[in-house]
Amino acid sequence: RLTQESPLYGLLSMATQFYQQSLKQHPARQAAVDYLKKRGISPQMVQAFALGFAPPGWDNLHKLVQADQAKQQSLIEAGLLVHNEGSGKRYDRFRDRLMFPIRDHSGRVIGFGGRVLGDDKPKYLNSPETALFHKSHELYGLYELRQKPGKLDEILVVEGYLDVIALAQAGLCNAVATLGTATSEQHIKRLLRLAPSILFCFDGDSAGRKAAWRALEAALPALFDGKRTRFLFLPDGEDPDSLVRLEGADAFRARIEEQSLSLTDYFFSRLQQEVNLSSLEGKAQLVNLALPLLQKIPSASLQVLMRQRLAQLSGLALEQLNQLAQPNLPAK
Ligand code: UTP
Ligand code: MN
Ligand code: MN
Ligand code: MN
Ligand code: MN
Repeated sequence: RLTQESPLYGLLSMATQFYQQSLKQHPARQAAVDYLKKRGISPQMVQAFALGFAPPGWDNLHKLVQADQAKQQSLIEAGLLVHNEGSGKRYDRFRDRLMFPIRDHSGRVIGFGGRVLGDDKPKYLNSPETALFHKSHELYGLYELRQKPGKLDEILVVEGYLDVIALAQAGLCNAVATLGTATSEQHIKRLLRLAPSILFCFDGDSAGRKAAWRALEAALPALFDGKRTRFLFLPDGEDPDSLVRLEGADAFRARIEEQSLSLTDYFFSRLQQEVNLSSLEGKAQLVNLALPLLQKIPSASLQVLMRQRLAQLSGLALEQLNQLAQPNLPAK
């Protein structure tokens, strides 16, 4: 092999094992065990997602590499130790948290999410961007999902680690989560290489609804022929974790089949809410909002059909709309 292995992989793997071990036998483990129980996470899921526990204290991980300057430096580069410039001190980034290892496509741990065991803020701490960990590229649960044999018809994109895990525990093993960032075009293109369809299923709150529209915008340039995205909006206050626990997997599947909106339906219904279609100004506004977005869609057939729909809604003839879409070059 010509590829050079980064020393960070070994240290991230060492840390994963340390956190897993701590969940099994650290004296302070009970709080984490109780928390997992309270959230209803089964031992099988703890195993499948390699969940762990970062014990309380500033130097649990630091102690393990105390004698080795090179390893300390690598742990800093891996985002697990923090180097305080002022005091020169080095300390563990993750303390007293439930740990979610984030794996790359080949299963190597490249970063972590860490959740507090109570209601402290911030609720989650994630690894910083490192040489190995790029949030706009990686998706939580993607490696685990690809371990399942069989054809993937659709991938669910959800917001959180616990949404992915609760769905998997309920038998819906096709969910991934972005890592505290917006869904990117890169994420979507990556997923649409693995499956023909994506279902976005964000929280039933204003952040979730905002995330859905951003996901739609990011999805437009990925809509090649044969690819589609859909959207499921959850009841207020629910997320996939809370809802699948509340109503079970079958009801959740039924919800997907009965209530998902196609990208096109969501697109037009959302824009129609924003403008007043009973005035000409409102119709013009609709055209101005919609056209630049439609032009990002690579599937020619889908784009033409959406233009037809826009023409109907605005009362413009399709030819006029097409002329607006290809403005004359500015005069010299
Ligand atoms: P939510 O805010 O929806 O979490 O964040 P939640 O559903 O209330 O809490 P839990 O997970 O059920 O206990 C969803 C996701 O957003 C990211 C995390 O990836 C989280 O899983 N997030 C959230 C952060 O990165 N940092 C935060 O402080 C909060
Ligand atoms: Mn990768
Ligand atoms: Mn939320
Ligand atoms: Mn949530
Ligand atoms: Mn939640």
